[in-house]
Amino acid sequence: MKAAVLRAAKTPMTIEEVQLDNPAPDEVRVRVAASGLCHSDYHVVAGDLQSRFPVVLGHEPSGIVESVGERVSMFKPGDHVVACISGFCGHCNTCVQGFTYRCTDRPARARNDPPRMSMPALADGKRLHVRSVGGFADTMLVHQNSLVKVPREIPLDRACILGCAVITGYGAVNRRAKVPPGSTVAVIGCGGVGLSVIQGARLAGAARIIAVDIEPTKLEMAKRFGATDAVMGGDDAPAAVVELTKGGVDYVFEVLGTMKTIQQGCLMLGAGGTLTIVGVPPHDAKLTLPGSLADMFMKEVRIQWTYMGSSPFTVDIPLLADFYLQGKLELDAMISNRIKLEDINAGFETMIGGRSARNVIVFDDVMKEAARAA
Ligand SMILES: NC(=O)c1ccc[n+]([C@@H]2O[C@H](COP(=O)([O-])OP(=O)(O)OC[C@H]3O[C@@H](n4cnc5c(N)ncnc54)[C@H](O)[C@@H]3O)[C@@H](O)[C@H]2O)c1
Ligand SMILES: [Zn+2]
Ligand SMILES: [Zn+2]
Repeated sequence: MKAAVLRAAKTPMTIEEVQLDNPAPDEVRVRVAASGLCHSDYHVVAGDLQSRFPVVLGHEPSGIVESVGERVSMFKPGDHVVACISGFCGHCNTCVQGFTYRCTDRPARARNDPPRMSMPALADGKRLHVRSVGGFADTMLVHQNSLVKVPREIPLDRACILGCAVITGYGAVNRRAKVPPGSTVAVIGCGGVGLSVIQGARLAGAARIIAVDIEPTKLEMAKRFGATDAVMGGDDAPAAVVELTKGGVDYVFEVLGTMKTIQQGCLMLGAGGTLTIVGVPPHDAKLTLPGSLADMFMKEVRIQWTYMGSSPFTVDIPLLADFYLQGKLELDAMISNRIKLEDINAGFETMIGGRSARNVIVFDDVMKEAARAA
């Protein structure tokens, strides 16, 4: 089998011959049908997020179950599934309190267990690492608590983006910020995740959704997903948003992870406003609040973060699949390019150039098999 392997930050991934271990009792082996390219993986490629190397990335895959470990009762061969990095143990304090996405004991193989994936070509007993679910490969081995079944009616190239971009964007609005109907919302960064925030805000009944991006094509796209207004990103964006809303918005979503855009987000807030930071900042970044602290105090603003949309993914991914099948959620236009695993580096280039909503790797044979089963 094949996987895209990243040997060091700031180098291209290479397609390598790898091997998967057999499923442990709680693991599921999945043939990957489609796998989305998320900016969080690019943060590792760019060196902004730390990682062990060599590593197989990819955390937005869908596929068909091939085989299951002896303790797996929720999945069987042939099931259509989506994987999510919010895998949970189900018994730590955080899980038991209902915050499975914050699990403090995520299921993983122990360091001295055999690796899930190995690469015979690696010299000197070096180990191949798999970051979360390892979706940049034609087959993956994941814990059953990192998977959820989806209806056969949803095509698997659309379903895969539910696993990160869409659940994060939808959840940021509806689970974390809990935006009430009639609110004003600004979204900074309209990539795959930001466009999903916009859709989440539309579904929440927001009165005004202001898209902020530096790419005019993204601002156009944002309007098709539900944005009511568009503002060019940059230093002047906060003043433009404050002017449009006569005093600032109720909810800002920062979906980029840079200090500048987080600071701009703070400056867009109206009285009682909430900034939700969705973007992943570089591992060594520090935050300095902009503007006047006294002003923030008087306005009682709030700043919070969200991990994977603070969503219980086994509930929200099937819900979002239903929204798509009912015509309430747009996924077709979210996919800008369908590419082969071999074209993964070029796929990331288009993403960082701001030219795509989501680029998705597709494995044609598995996609065809899934379509026959639908
Ligand atoms: N919180 C989470 O759990 C979570 C989950 C998924 C992704 N993320 C993070 O969300 C962020 C976005 O991911 P994505 O996959 O949508 O990325 P993307 O590359 O597809 O989109 C980024 C967008 O930001 C725009 N942009 C660039 N500079 C800008 C500026 N100065 N002002 C306004 N817009 C600007 C780009 O044109 C592009 O449209 C990343 O940091 C990613 O790591 C976080
Ligand atoms: Zn992601
Ligand atoms: Zn847990």
